[in-house]
Amino acid sequence: MTLENRRLVVTGGARGIGRATVEAFLRQGAKVAVFDIDAEGMRDLAKPQQCWTMECDVRDEQQVLQRMRDAAEAMGGVDGVVNSAGVANGLPFEDTDYASWKAQIETNLNGTFLVCKAATPWMRQAGGGSIVNIASAQALLPTGSSCSYTASKGGVVAFTKTIAFELAAKGIRANVVCPGTTDTPMVRALLEKSPDAVNRNLAAVPMGRLAKAEEIADMIVFLSGPASAFVTGTSIPVDGGRTRH
Ligand SMILES: NC(=O)c1ccc[n+]([C@@H]2O[C@H](COP(=O)([O-])OP(=O)(O)OC[C@H]3O[C@@H](n4cnc5c(N)ncnc54)[C@H](O)[C@@H]3O)[C@@H](O)[C@H]2O)c1
Repeated sequence: MTLENRRLVVTGGARGIGRATVEAFLRQGAKVAVFDIDAEGMRDLAKPQQCWTMECDVRDEQQVLQRMRDAAEAMGGVDGVVNSAGVANGLPFEDTDYASWKAQIETNLNGTFLVCKAATPWMRQAGGGSIVNIASAQALLPTGSSCSYTASKGGVVAFTKTIAFELAAKGIRANVVCPGTTDTPMVRALLEKSPDAVNRNLAAVPMGRLAKAEEIADMIVFLSGPASAFVTGTSIPVDGGRTRH
């Protein structure tokens, strides 16, 4: 097991890519603290001495700091974090008002910043660690599905590369996974609301299908473990060849 006893925090773990990541981490022997606003949705993941579920809104600085302390206390420290909590509004530019723009930035970009910031002192205390932030293939090659979502994810890529540079000397690696369109509750909701945007993305995928959440989780496991010890500051697409980045 590649992540035996590693102490990892996953945000957005109640469903979709976050949930698949928590399940993969547990199979690899990690201890996991799951943060999500959906307390009910993550309840079944809890496992004595191995998986703790903690209600947390990543937009709330004080809550994030407190939950990170709770996670460190439960697991005996923090060796890594995965930021998968995210929202997608699927709105074209001309339908995007300032409130919906800010809502995307607040969860996807500000939430990622707050969780990285809260986790870093614990990883420093542990002597090093790994950060894996989830952006999107949209950040690398936008298809015009939502300017606010894409801007938030572009911010995640730039932010992560910056902290990778700053934290390398402290033994903390920081990387980004950029999923293509993935079969999760988020995409099923978008398919109902903006089928054109989702189908435009899919039409551009050489492998011709949606990603499975487990396929994204496989890359997150790699980036969170010892096999990627010399990998930092990258943004890796897992997108069936859409961006050919
Ligand atoms: N599904 C895709 O096609 C796709 C593609 C590229 C990137 N992504 C990104 O991957 C990540 C996961 O997406 P998904 O498809 O699994 O989404 P999802 O909607 O299925 O799951 C997202 C999870 O985040 C949680 N969440 C939302 N806001 C939160 C907040 N403020 N605080 C804490 N938790 C919160 C939700 O409760 C949910 O459990 C997101 O960042 C998303 O933008 C998804």
